[in-house]
Amino acid sequence: MLINRKIIAMLALSSVVTIVALTSMAPEKKEFKNLKVLPKNITPKQLDNVMDNWAHSLGVRCTFCHVRDEAAKKMDFASDAKPEKEMARHMFKMMNKINQKYFEAKKDSLGMIQTSGINCYSCHRGESHPEVKLPEVKRGPGPGGAGGPPPPPPVAPPGN
Ligand code: HEC
Ligand code: HEC
Repeated sequence: MLINRKIIAMLALSSVVTIVALTSMAPEKKEFKNLKVLPKNITPKQLDNVMDNWAHSLGVRCTFCHVRDEAAKKMDFASDAKPEKEMARHMFKMMNKINQKYFEAKKDSLGMIQTSGINCYSCHRGESHPEVKLPEVKRGPGPGGAGGPPPPPPVAPPGN
């Protein structure tokens, strides 16, 4: 009886080990490890396009959002160590909301919103941190310039 129990326990244990071994041996299906806003089934080529697009729109390199794993001597694209990466996710969600609400958003086969309305470049124009201040008006000679009539009074903000 005691022997039987031991055998059963051993069999149970070995089957657990087998299952663990099988699952860890199963081919890694997921291409990317840490996607929270992009479709999980995005292909490497599509992801490359998105990343290139973001980098170009902001005028930055991959390292603006991604960290390097110095120990492994390679980029750690899945890491969320840089706050810029989280900000980019936030921006992506904002952009999609605007496009869904105010533009006729068309979706591609992955359900990603195609840039029919605004995209990162619409606001960023090749700058990582778009300037939100209005550019100063350059006053030359003539109306509004030196010797010209005074500039119009500032417009009252709405709601006042
Ligand atoms: C403006 C920020 C930004 C820039 C620039 C950027 N990325 Fe990303 N990248 C992200 C964000 C955000 C994610 C995660 C998307 C998500 O959560 O769905 C990501 C995800 C990735 C992933 C998937 C990692 C994983 O396993 O989850 C790879 C690979 C990647 N980026 C490569 C690149 C490369 C190569 C470049 C340069 C050409 C680049 N990225 C430039 C923000 C950026
Ligand atoms: C509607 C305009 C708009 C769109 C569209 C937009 N952004 Fe931004 N983004 C801004 C503004 C404005 C700031 C600066 C926010 C601030 O002052 O804190 C900013 C800041 C950022 C930052 C932080 C930069 C820094 O210096 O830390 C990142 C990263 C970023 N955006 C990524 C993106 C990406 C990626 C997209 C496209 C998916 C995008 N943005 C689309 C307006 C926009």
